[in-house]
Amino acid sequence: MADVIVETKDRIARIEIARLDKKNALTAAMYNAMADAMAAAEADPQVRVILVHGARDCFTAGNDLKDFLERGATGGPSSAFRFISGLPALKKPLVAAVGGSAVGIGTTMLLHCDFVYAAPNAKFNMPFVALGLVPEAASSLLLPMIAGYQRAAELLMLARPFDAAKAHAAGIVTEIVPEAELFERARETALALAALPAASVRLTKQLMKHQLGEAIAAQMKEEGRIFAERLGSPEAKEAMTAFFEKRKPDFSRFG
Ligand code: COA
Repeated sequence: MADVIVETKDRIARIEIARLDKKNALTAAMYNAMADAMAAAEADPQVRVILVHGARDCFTAGNDLKDFLERGATGGPSSAFRFISGLPALKKPLVAAVGGSAVGIGTTMLLHCDFVYAAPNAKFNMPFVALGLVPEAASSLLLPMIAGYQRAAELLMLARPFDAAKAHAAGIVTEIVPEAELFERARETALALAALPAASVRLTKQLMKHQLGEAIAAQMKEEGRIFAERLGSPEAKEAMTAFFEKRKPDFSRFG
């Protein structure tokens, strides 16, 4: 599909988010395309590494808010959940290159990556609370573990944007790289991983991750249950309607 470009070369499966007119906001079809690409990369013996990126000045504005509004009204199924729940199961290393906006799942998916390179222009945000929602992708479990509780509480509960330096200090980002070198640096790491003994790379990842597998799955399920409820809440509807009406949301009338 045009909004997600997938290419396999040099043993690297490259997944590019490419819907720039909407700031790379992710639709159901895009989640499915990314989940399919990751599953294909896992199954392909020629692929050693998965690399995800957007544009140099925009990673992704997160879930498409129109999709959220519709799903809040209909309670329909979530392709986002299919994508999210596949991330912790990946056996092959996952590398991300982030420049510009990385909103919502644009930040939380990074908690499942093995290497995250960010340009100084990267702007992270987990605005779930400000949207009347709750965190997803097991970020409510992983972020306190990675960043410490206080830092996680600041980022998840205040829901304000934060820069690459803060993301690096919180342990979300491996390294901050000049914008002009961002994609090359991520590709260099992907190539280095691809040249190493594949089984040892996979087993090392597995050894570092396996104890958390069940806890992550359980947290995603619980987050997903509450998230789906919150999507139908009047606060979420107000927050998302306000975004499209280009005004500040007003939560004062809700209890
Ligand atoms: N869903 C749907 N459309 C989105 C979107 C999203 N998550 N993010 C941006 N867009 C659309 C805008 O509606 C706008 O469309 P238009 O040109 O038809 O009006 C276009 O993309 C450009 O967005 P704009 O807000 O003008 O760009 P910006 O550079 O000023 O700001 C962001 C970029 C990412 C900071 C801002 O778009 C934003 O906050 N988006 C919402 C992020 C969000 O809450 N995501 C959900 C996380 S759970």
